[in-house]
Amino acid sequence: MIACVKGQTMHDVYLSAADVIHKFSMRRGGLKSLTLSNPQLQQKKAVYLLSLNTLIRYESLTMAIADASDLPSQDTIEFFLLLVLLYEGLYGNGISNEKRRKRRLSSTTRSVYKQALILIDSAKELAPTKPLEAEAALQHSLDVAQAFPRALRVNRVTTTVKQVLGRYKGSVPDPVLPDVVVLSKSKRLETHKDAWIAEGKATPQSRASCLPVSALFDYLDGHTDCLGSILDFCSAPGNKTAHAAIRLALATKGYKKQTQYAVVLNEIDATRAKLAEKLTKPVVDTLPKRIAFTVNTASCFDLTEESVGASCHPPTICIVDPSCSSSGVVGNIDQALGKHFSEPCDIEALSEFQFKCLSHALDVPSVCVVVYSTCSIHDAENETVVRRALEGREDWAVVPVLSKWVTRGHGDDDVARCSIRADPAVDHTDGFFTAVLVKKRE
Ligand SMILES: C[S@@+](CC[C@H](N)C(=O)[O-])C[C@H]1O[C@@H](n2cnc3c(N)ncnc32)[C@H](O)[C@@H]1O
Repeated sequence: MIACVKGQTMHDVYLSAADVIHKFSMRRGGLKSLTLSNPQLQQKKAVYLLSLNTLIRYESLTMAIADASDLPSQDTIEFFLLLVLLYEGLYGNGISNEKRRKRRLSSTTRSVYKQALILIDSAKELAPTKPLEAEAALQHSLDVAQAFPRALRVNRVTTTVKQVLGRYKGSVPDPVLPDVVVLSKSKRLETHKDAWIAEGKATPQSRASCLPVSALFDYLDGHTDCLGSILDFCSAPGNKTAHAAIRLALATKGYKKQTQYAVVLNEIDATRAKLAEKLTKPVVDTLPKRIAFTVNTASCFDLTEESVGASCHPPTICIVDPSCSSSGVVGNIDQALGKHFSEPCDIEALSEFQFKCLSHALDVPSVCVVVYSTCSIHDAENETVVRRALEGREDWAVVPVLSKWVTRGHGDDDVARCSIRADPAVDHTDGFFTAVLVKKRE
């Protein structure tokens, strides 16, 4: 571990950036939480930008020093300090004040500086001047994500879209999704300080993430006989469960009086289930008594009709939003940069898991409507899963939903035509997929 002279660490942008990247590589936090939201860190913005830029050019930098000898081991802070210094020397502003700085450094750190200065000279020949294809694509996707307008999901149990539009100046109603308002690009929303967000009247949620429940209720609002309790198979952090609870409350208003409906937020990971419980509380507190919102920590494969209490309507609806490659998420810096430090995704294994989750939902006897979704762009996690799950199930079919949403599934069959995709370039949100499956009735 690098030892720095007392009190110096937090004042040194290079060392702080190296420390941040080291922690990031060990999954101790996201890049923003390790920098911009770290109250102990000084020169936060400079540290954030330097860490971000070093990570974006990570492949170029490691290529440039691939043949160098005596490099620090790749899981040490010294290695990341070397990369940060190389970034500054090769692509950034040059290494500043190194004479004054070197005098104040520990011997280990001083030797990393020395090595960096030597390597910068030799690496000038080896380091690609232009970003590599993958780096340029990453930079482009971060730029695209920066330009996405932010969206709020409106809790129409306690407020109206009109009231939300009135409060968030410059916002407009989403052209397709009835619960969503799109914020003006110039609006800076301090989510943790906003009273309406704290009260559950409005919740920041991307357009893409609002698609499954919007699609589900696009069908259910015209088929109220299918309304019943909801099992959300893979729920944390709970965005879709909260959205579904709101829509169920609206759909059941004045319908079959005295009936209780359960909304089960199921999640396998206990810590994530707790987080989901906390995050959904502002909305849950606004729900009418007939909606019984419960948190269940279990594998979705353990869910049955009995997972809903006997006093409630049996489950007729499932939400299946399983773990996926997240390949559609363009705005997630941590996801994109974390790839340097994690195993590549096994798409085949994910596809198999997703197929099993969806099949299990279709097999719950009382269930007659299932919405399936992922934030992946791969056919293998999307249309392929739906087609496989429908194979040999003559009593189930995909149904067309949200007819105004233009971007549809891949292929030339009912699954393709009925499914919805989100394309970042067209829909100004993350890449996404959703399909609604319905049990045929006589
Ligand atoms: C894509 S996330 C769900 C996001 C959530 N639907 C939302 O909108 O906030 C997938 C979740 O599934 C959970 N999960 C993975 N395997 C599971 C299983 N067998 N049963 C239940 N949950 C599972 C993961 O821990 C993760 O929290």
